[in-house]
Amino acid sequence: MSQTSSSSSSFSDTVSHIQELSGWVQGIRGNNHVQFLQFRTNGKILQVVLEKEKLGEEEFRFLKNIPQETSLKIRGYFSENPKAPEGKELLLESCEIVGKSGEYPITPKEHGPDFLHNNRHLWLRSKRQIAILKIRSELSFAIREFFRNQNYTLIDTPILTGSVGESSGTLFSTEYFDLGNAYLAQTGQLYLETAVFAHSKVYCFGPTFRAEKSKTRRHLTEFWMLEAETAFFGNESNIEFQDEFIRYLLKTVIERCPSELKMLERNPETILTQIQNKFPVISYSEAIEILQSKGEKIPWGEDINAERENILTEHFGTAVFVKNYPRSIKAFYMKQNPDDPRTVLCADLLAPDGVGEIIGGSEREEDYQKIIDRLMEEGLPPKDYEWYLDLRKYGSVPHSGFGMGLERILAWICGLSHVRECIPYPRMIYRLHP
Ligand code: 4AD
Ligand code: MG
Repeated sequence: MSQTSSSSSSFSDTVSHIQELSGWVQGIRGNNHVQFLQFRTNGKILQVVLEKEKLGEEEFRFLKNIPQETSLKIRGYFSENPKAPEGKELLLESCEIVGKSGEYPITPKEHGPDFLHNNRHLWLRSKRQIAILKIRSELSFAIREFFRNQNYTLIDTPILTGSVGESSGTLFSTEYFDLGNAYLAQTGQLYLETAVFAHSKVYCFGPTFRAEKSKTRRHLTEFWMLEAETAFFGNESNIEFQDEFIRYLLKTVIERCPSELKMLERNPETILTQIQNKFPVISYSEAIEILQSKGEKIPWGEDINAERENILTEHFGTAVFVKNYPRSIKAFYMKQNPDDPRTVLCADLLAPDGVGEIIGGSEREEDYQKIIDRLMEEGLPPKDYEWYLDLRKYGSVPHSGFGMGLERILAWICGLSHVRECIPYPRMIYRLHP
């Protein structure tokens, strides 16, 4: 027998000597002479060919009946086969069992979403789930890469906070020793704003929490958000920057994940067409006119719900920025629009294919008194925000930022109608286990 390579060898190697690989049995099928074992190693599926003639009657019969998810160490030679999932297959010489498997609950037959989510700890091993989380991993990396290349400094904002970040309606709170209530962060934004005065260009990327009581296809109670904040930056520059960021992300991830997208039956061309040009930018008032012209009974001043967001993205056939929403439906920190004081200098980016809002962003109010007035209107005690208000006292500058929901943009990339498969362990109003 020739040289045995280490178990870390990947099956992109095209050497003719014997290979040793470790992994799991995803499935097996074939006939009485040859069986094809789907072998999962490093998150990819390798086709392993088992020939009765080579292995002998007894070994062949044993492997033919091997339970799904048994873990194995296998040895064999690679051979080119354009029909095999990775363009090559391994001709098995020998193997040994590392860990036996009982009757595995997730089989190739159809299972309902509830069953699959109850078995999420095992469902993660399925091909589609592997592909989605692989894309998520690449997406996270590309996000960090983009901001590093743009000279942004990463600021890790706290998860336990003492003041409401976004809205008091969706807070998770917990007793915090003798200091009253602590809240799980709904956003890192207010802390990011403090850091922008030190570093000029900052971002944070981590889990955020919202006690969303609704069961929708796009709300999680724990989700990951990328937030960026830039000093000496107005709303228009902020929108341009987001446009560049999102189109970079999609292009990069599509380039890096061709086999995962294929697994998900997501045609990269669909997305590439959607991101070919800069995204259109319309005002909230224009959005209302478009909706009304399509028969929607929506008065000026009302928020745009998910269905209506879809009408807008279908109208444009791509993502679209909607800017300058009414002040009354947006957060306290958004800057009042000097040209129309009923509105604020903000923008949401609405993604196509039923995904809807993936970014919320704005220029921040610089005026000390205006922020206090808005806090009072929202019933938020200004004394909890003294540190935040200080920013308007000591060298205040125009600054803007935005937050992008990781699971939502991932749903767009993967062509998924629900965000719950876009995070390893989704947390929703009715789901905390596993
Ligand atoms: O629009 P939001 O609430 O904006 C903020 O939190 C700002 N403080 C961001 C900033 O300016 N720094 O949330 C931003 C994005 C949304 O557009 C959406 O993509 C995502 O976060 N998001 C959610 N994703 C999943 N589940 C939820 N419950 C989400 N809530 C918001
Ligand atoms: Mg929003």
